[in-house]
Amino acid sequence: MKTIYICQSCGYSTGRWVGKCVACNSWDTVVEEKLGAGKNISATSLMEISSHIIPERLLTGIEELDRVFGGGIVQGSSTLIGGEPGIGKSTLLLKIAAQLSPHESLYVSGEESLEQVSLRAQRLKINVPGIKLLSTISASDVITAIKSNKKTKLVIIDSIQTMYDKDIGSAPGTVTQVRACAHEFTVVAKQYGIALLIVGHITKEGQIAGPKTLEHMVDTVLYFEGDNHRILRATKNRFGPANEIGVFEMSETGLIPVSNPSSLFIMARDKEIVGSAVFAGIEGSRPILMEVQALIAGTNMVTPRRAVVGWDINRLAMIIAVLNARCKIFLHDKEVYLNIAGGLRIQEPSADLAVAASLISSIINLPLPASSIICGEVALSGEIRNISYADFRLKEAQKLGFKRAIMPKQGSYSVHNIEIIRVGHVSELKKIFSNTKENVPF
Ligand code: TYD
Ligand code: MG
Repeated sequence: MKTIYICQSCGYSTGRWVGKCVACNSWDTVVEEKLGAGKNISATSLMEISSHIIPERLLTGIEELDRVFGGGIVQGSSTLIGGEPGIGKSTLLLKIAAQLSPHESLYVSGEESLEQVSLRAQRLKINVPGIKLLSTISASDVITAIKSNKKTKLVIIDSIQTMYDKDIGSAPGTVTQVRACAHEFTVVAKQYGIALLIVGHITKEGQIAGPKTLEHMVDTVLYFEGDNHRILRATKNRFGPANEIGVFEMSETGLIPVSNPSSLFIMARDKEIVGSAVFAGIEGSRPILMEVQALIAGTNMVTPRRAVVGWDINRLAMIIAVLNARCKIFLHDKEVYLNIAGGLRIQEPSADLAVAASLISSIINLPLPASSIICGEVALSGEIRNISYADFRLKEAQKLGFKRAIMPKQGSYSVHNIEIIRVGHVSELKKIFSNTKENVPF
């Protein structure tokens, strides 16, 4: 039988063992694997598999939560939940277990004692019969506990970095341990039809710590983040749409779902603000209004600062270049700060125009027209490209009382009671400012 050595972090394979993977530079991740001869197995015809298989789901009854899971937690599925320490992962998971009661759940804490978990439950006013607690770091204890109670529907592992399989030499938290324990848990969960929720710590870069394969191993990956409030975001979901978000407010007694997040992310305003533009974005399956804030400041530095929170810095560089080349707006000697209010992260290119408008607003020191939203993708030529789900976005804006929308020229819009201002090129943005005042200086 042939032996190869595979890096458990990146999948790189080599003919001899090395201490440090040459591909991803991780230490101690290369392990020996035997290549067996393949068995003769036959594949199943797609037509033979029933098309009526609908996975059974556990509903928490909290819409903000169930939506992120794709309409409830699928039985037999595994979910990885990542987030910074103190963000509220343990609080959230205990709440999920409580909501599922009287279904039985097993909460495994490798970080806290039974008393600490129980104190949290008291603070959250959770007093339900379905939750069983286990404080251990031993993976085999967890497997035994799962196998010994056939009624368990949900297993929570808090956290995977604390789990330890004694048959594996390395310490808890190492790539090999994390991978092996996660694999064992997901296999038992599938076998017993149990929904598995695994907490994962995150690295300085904001990724779930441990091998990359961890995210591939599970069905769903959620990130829990936010500053004033909390956002649960699905970045991968085999059973539902990715990028779905759930929004919560924190309180003494735990997380409170926010069913209308748009009102949370756009600051209440009685007058228009310079450098601020409201963008109607799509997060998962629903529209959410968000505020783009820009600040342009003079500097003595040779390389002026560009700082971005909640958006892609490369995309900002592109917008700055387009403003330079197509509108003769020069920012090379200015510091540029861009922030998406409320700790949201925008990934859609349709926010380009809102960014461009907030930058221009900051430069010329004039606010955007009152009560307006702005959406559109900016091409390198300066042309404004059409966006998807335009009516969906407009409806949300209208629902929140916005009176006008600055939109790509080509689009067709069928939402009434909202004035559409069409722009075909970034240079036309000046016409929206001239609504505010005469003599726009560009
Ligand atoms: P915790 O759930 O322990 O965070 P994690 O498991 O991610 O490290 O929560 C951190 C702290 O925040 C804890 O002291 C409880 C507090 N907290 C609230 O008071 N209210 C809330 O709604 C949440 C989510 C947390
Ligand atoms: Mg915790």
